Order: sequence, then C-alpha cells, then structure tokens
Amino acid sequence: MKKLYLCDIITSQFFITMCISNKIGPPVEGEDFYGREKEIRKAIKLLDNNHSLLLSAPRRIGKSSLAKRLIEVKKNEGWKCVYIDLEETTTEEGFLRLIIESFKKNDIWKQLAEGASKGLTSIFERIEKVSVGPIDFSLERKEEQEDLYKNLKELIKHDEDTFIAVDELTLFLSILNKSENGAEKVAFILNWLRSLRQVSKTKVRWLFCGSVGLRNFTSAMNLGYTINDLTEFGLDELTEEEAAGLLTSLCKSEEIKIENNIVQYTLEKLHWNIPYFIQIIFSKLVEEYEGEITKENIDNAYNKLCSENYLNTWSERLTEYRTYESIARKILKLLSTQEAGLKRSTILNYLMTDQDSSKIEEFDFTLSKVLEMLENDGYILKKDSLRVFRSPLLRDYWFNKFVE
Ligand SMILES: Nc1ncnc2c1ncn2[C@@H]1O[C@H](COP(=O)(O)OP(=O)(O)OP(=O)(O)O)[C@@H](O)[C@H]1O
Ligand SMILES: [Mg+2]
Repeated sequence: MKKLYLCDIITSQFFITMCISNKIGPPVEGEDFYGREKEIRKAIKLLDNNHSLLLSAPRRIGKSSLAKRLIEVKKNEGWKCVYIDLEETTTEEGFLRLIIESFKKNDIWKQLAEGASKGLTSIFERIEKVSVGPIDFSLERKEEQEDLYKNLKELIKHDEDTFIAVDELTLFLSILNKSENGAEKVAFILNWLRSLRQVSKTKVRWLFCGSVGLRNFTSAMNLGYTINDLTEFGLDELTEEEAAGLLTSLCKSEEIKIENNIVQYTLEKLHWNIPYFIQIIFSKLVEEYEGEITKENIDNAYNKLCSENYLNTWSERLTEYRTYESIARKILKLLSTQEAGLKRSTILNYLMTDQDSSKIEEFDFTLSKVLEMLENDGYILKKDSLRVFRSPLLRDYWFNKFVE
C-alpha cells in the first residue's frame, strides 16, 4: 500500500477545492493554496535528509506561498518553524531585530545555561525583553558586532528539528550593499548564516527564496562560497492538470459555470500557466460573468489584464537591474513587437543603432548578461535560436503599455 504522507493529506484536492478563494498578490496560505504536490514532496524529502534549500525562481511564480506551505507541513509534523520576510527591512539592525523577534516567538532560542558568559547572559536578557519593546544594539564597533552574532549563534537550539524560511534575502542584501561599508556587512551576514548551517549535527534546515538570484549576486561579490552548501530547488509553472484544477476550483467557489473546453482555451491563451496569471484572469472573469463563461469572456478578461495594472510589478522590478535597466527595457520593448521572437544578432543590431561601431564588443557582452538576467527572471526564453517573451500575456501587456 502507498505510504500516506502528511503533505499528501494537506494538499489533497478534496480539501482544497472545497474552499479556495481568489487571492491576488500576497502569498496564499491554507485552503487558498492549490496544487504543487510534486514540489512539496520533493522539498520535504530534501529537508528530511538534512538539506538546506535555495529557491530562486521568476517573480510571482509562487515561491513565498510554497515556503509558507512547507512551514505548515513541517509544523504539523512537530518541527519548530520560522518564516522571515526580509522585504520588511533595509538595515542590519532591522535584520537582527526580525531574526531575534521571530526566533523568540517560535521558541528557537535555548534557555540560558548556568555558567554562561557575560556576553551571552546580556544578550539573553535583551532577547527576553523583546516582547516588551524594541531592543537596542550597538553595532558601531566591529568587535561588538562579532560578539553579538557569535552569541546569537550559540543561543540557537541546534538539536531540535527546525525549519527556517528566509524570503527575499537577495533583495535585502542588495539594498544593504548600497549602504556605508555595505559590501563588508553583506559578507558578514552571509558568512554568519553559513556558519549557522555548519554547526556540527545541526538539525536546523534553511530555505532561502527570492526572485533575485542569490547565486548571481554572491558570485558577483566573490562570495559564492558562502552558499555553496545549499541545494538548488526549482519552481516553474503549474502542470496542465493543476492549472486546469485551479481555474475550475476558483470558478466552483464562486458558483461560476465553465466548460472544460473553455478551461483549455484559457490555459492555451495564457500559455505560461503560473498560478498568479490564473488568479488574475479569474478575477476579471468574475466581473464579466453572465451565466456561463464563453471564449469571448476569456478574450475580454485577457485584454483587460493587458491594459490594467496587475502586471506592473514586472516593469517596476526592472529598477533592480540598475545600470542594465535601460538596455533591458529596450530589449523587452523590441521583443513585445515580435510574436515569433528575434535572433540575438537582430537584437544586437538594434541596440547598436546610432552607436559608435567600435563599441560593438562592449554591447555584445552587456547583451549576453541582460538576456541571461531576463531569462532567469522569467521575462523571456530562448526557443531554438530565437528570444521570445515567455508569456504572451506579459508580451501583450508590454506592447500595450510601452509601444502602442
Ligand atoms: N499554490 C498556489 N495556489 C494558488 N494561487 C497561488 C499559488 N501560488 C501563488 N499563487 C498566486 O500567485 C500570487 C503570488 O504568489 P507568491 O507571493 O507566493 O509568489 P512569489 O513568487 O513569492 O512572488 P514575488 O516574486 O512577488 O515574491 C498569489 O497572490 C496568488 O495569486
Ligand atoms: Mg515572494
């Protein structure tokens, strides 16, 4: 007989299709989380085998939702679990406060043993006061900073099954990097996190997730070694079955009639079936609904999405490309006009328009870098020798917003 895992029960279609609701934007939890059974099973297996994971995947694909679901599963198995969203902070003090408060709330700190050092006792006393008010840290002197991190490391219970999900680490580190002595602070934090994972026989497992690639970031700063122990974990669109199931369940929850052929029509039109796209098209269908969903309703909902703000995040987040932002925008604008895609050489020629021809090598190198970033972030993909938008919806939105 097939062994029944807790995650099977938690993600069972029956449980979910009963009460899912339409959520757009924030991570989905509980009954609103749909599918991903295969990924959950794989992640749980890795965590059980003491792996710490790196989930780096395109934006809006469902990373934070998956992290929260894994926490739900592991909590139900009796593990200590913590979810830390670093998007909430931009400073080192803020980072420490988030760590300390969430570890305290979830009982990750040890009780202080007798004979503990003065430093450890003092940090422990400060942690105990967390619930009363904010804690003050002096990070001005390097030695004080090192002592503080060392003491915190010693206070973590390493002998209990624990799962810590850290969201948007790269986003936080890239902001920190721009502050005074930023590179040094970033290196310190990455090394500290690494040292926590290296504690002998530790039962604490980590998951780092974010849409900005931690690998690219650390290798650009020669800090690749600080994350080499993490196991890469991929996340892509839903399977066809899951995508159809999500749309059907959302319709059922609002008592909206939709035939299977219309579900298929929608999925073919979206082409890249990430849960966010299904959720936003559904929200437009609700507005359109008059008894039964037709192909025309789907086309109208799709066209509305192209002219509204749901996809703005893809444009806004290009600011993270900093010096490469304007080239990335040029490439995306050009590709949005070409449904079939374009060859790399055509894109290069376009970028070289009105440029001094001696700069071709420089542009060629930059182009490779930006194309890779756009691919990693899910904007485009390479199909045979052509670069195309990964999602027709995103392409049509881009055309509508920046070209037409
Ligand atoms: N498993 C799921 N079931 C149902 N909807 C989902 C699921 N995963 C993601 N979504 C949809 O996608 C949206 C974004 O999800 P989430 O915040 O988890 O993605 P993300 O990859 O962390 O995004 P970002 O790159 O912005 O951090 C949710 O608000 C919801 O509409
Ligand atoms: Mg997220």
